[in-house]
Amino acid sequence: MINDRNIFIADDPKSLAPAFVNLLEDAFAGLTENTPFNLLLSGGSTPRLIFEQLTKYYDQKVDWHRIRFFWGDERCVPPDDPESNYQMARKSLLNPLSIPSSNIFRIKGENDPEAESRRYETVIKEELKDKNTVLPFDLVMLGIGEDGHTVSLFPHNLPLFHSQRLFVPSEHPLTGQKRVSATGTLINQAKKAVFLVTGAAKAEIATQIYHRTGNWEKMPASYVKPLNGELYWLFDRPAASLLSQ
Ligand code: 6PG
Repeated sequence: MINDRNIFIADDPKSLAPAFVNLLEDAFAGLTENTPFNLLLSGGSTPRLIFEQLTKYYDQKVDWHRIRFFWGDERCVPPDDPESNYQMARKSLLNPLSIPSSNIFRIKGENDPEAESRRYETVIKEELKDKNTVLPFDLVMLGIGEDGHTVSLFPHNLPLFHSQRLFVPSEHPLTGQKRVSATGTLINQAKKAVFLVTGAAKAEIATQIYHRTGNWEKMPASYVKPLNGELYWLFDRPAASLLSQ
């Protein structure tokens, strides 16, 4: 399904779900029996479409109760706010799949951004601790914004991507909305990272980032490159329309 260039192009966003499940299955295959699977979720509108497909068609096909759910970023809003990435995942994925709360590790958007960034980094270090190291995430789910941002790392503050911290406070460049975001240091430790990119509006930015052309150096998403892992690209046809084949 995913070709040798780690790219899959679907006709529409919902059709990305089988390729995402394919990635999950590959990642599961690398784990010993009963080892928990650590998944870092992305926010935004694309993931919601995928989550809805997963709960509708793949509820029996993935060992969901082995997965522990973390977030790559969160808007600094209460957990029941329509803007909350946790709220979106709870409604479209976690509740429909009856995921136990013991496997859900949300970023507390209601907290002070700096304090929550430090708290969540401690949660990650504790929950993924293996003797004296921090285990890599089995799969990191990412989106790309039209400005080339990923998680909540934006072009106006590119150095934040390279912070040595695992989580940092950030803010949306247009709305000023406070965020808590994973850094590139965390993301690039992943075993597998996958960009889910949909819509014609993303075609230009995705092409620059994928082909490292134009303003790619100014875009945080350009620096996602797992050090000891694989990067995958799941596009719908409109978002892939400018890629050179
Ligand atoms: C968020 C996401 C963000 C998202 C991109 C793309 O909190 O909004 O983490 O980085 O992935 O903005 O979002 P779409 O895929 O919905 O366009």
